[in-house]
Amino acid sequence: MKDIKARILLNRRIGLGYYKMSLDAPYIARTAKPGQFAQIKCSDSFEPLLRRPFSIHRVNRNIEILYETVGRGTEILSNKKEGDKIDVLGPLGNGFTLPRAMNGEPRAIIIAGGIGAAPLVYLAEELTKKKIKTIVLIGAKTKNLILCEKDFKKATPEVYVSTDDGTYGSQGFVSKLFHKILKTTESKFETIVYVCGPHEMLKCIADICQERKFECQVSLEEKMACGIGACLGCAVKTKSGNKLACKDGPIFNANELLW
Ligand SMILES: Cc1cc2nc3c(=O)[nH]c(=O)nc-3n(C[C@H](O)[C@H](O)[C@H](O)COP(=O)(O)OP(=O)(O)OC[C@H]3O[C@@H](n4cnc5c(N)ncnc54)[C@H](O)[C@@H]3O)c2cc1C
Ligand code: FES
Repeated sequence: MKDIKARILLNRRIGLGYYKMSLDAPYIARTAKPGQFAQIKCSDSFEPLLRRPFSIHRVNRNIEILYETVGRGTEILSNKKEGDKIDVLGPLGNGFTLPRAMNGEPRAIIIAGGIGAAPLVYLAEELTKKKIKTIVLIGAKTKNLILCEKDFKKATPEVYVSTDDGTYGSQGFVSKLFHKILKTTESKFETIVYVCGPHEMLKCIADICQERKFECQVSLEEKMACGIGACLGCAVKTKSGNKLACKDGPIFNANELLW
């Protein structure tokens, strides 16, 4: 991990309260794995004092983050201009585990709820690079809030969307879409599910995976302070005791968590 002053190459609003930022951070771009995150100092002053965690959304020569404005830090971030410099510490956390070579044809199902899409585009890109069949399910409240559909479609043709209000794609929660997809795309090979989104959604997907005996890796977006395992502020209860979301996570095997 490195603490760098990164130049902002782009900071663009891409939807209702959603922004994409590209940062000149070649070391992080070279070393980050899907599911890892960076701690970003949103403000030059002491307020807010703490850095904020953001998933590595995509990497090329730079890194991208995708964020939603929810409070002071993200509001300040959204007002940054191209050319401004910000403190970025990363890459942090463990990242997703990609399937190893195995008998048969493993398939990955990626499930994104709302801003939970942020860490999953890079994952979809890496899975398809490894020639792993990848299906993506995106859930959003309504049509205007669907994130990354085009980016996911660049990685895999199998992208399905659901909206709670039925304004686009299937109507209902993404867990309902998950059930539907499982019925129509049975696989005799191993299935690995990767999921990020609101807590209730993670739990619901984890339950379905447990019934089906699928491995399920969840990205937990706990509140964090230091981001490097020093403050113990992000403890998560697991079957093997308390773990730190920033250091042992943010990716956990759903079966390990005490929900
Ligand atoms: C590992 C990790 C990766 C993340 N990746 C992304 C990402 O890619 N894009 C993105 O938009 N957000 C992401 N988040 C959440 C992001 O860190 C928070 O939204 C951000 O810190 C809020 O800062 P703020 O100062 O704007 O809001 P604050 O003023 O701190 O809080 C405003 C509101 O947001 C809530 N909030 C704060 N932190 C979180 C959190 N971690 N999860 C859910 N709600 C929170 C608060 O309870 C409060 O209601 C991630 C969090 C973690 C732990
Ligand atoms: S945020 Fe400090 S230990 Fe995890």
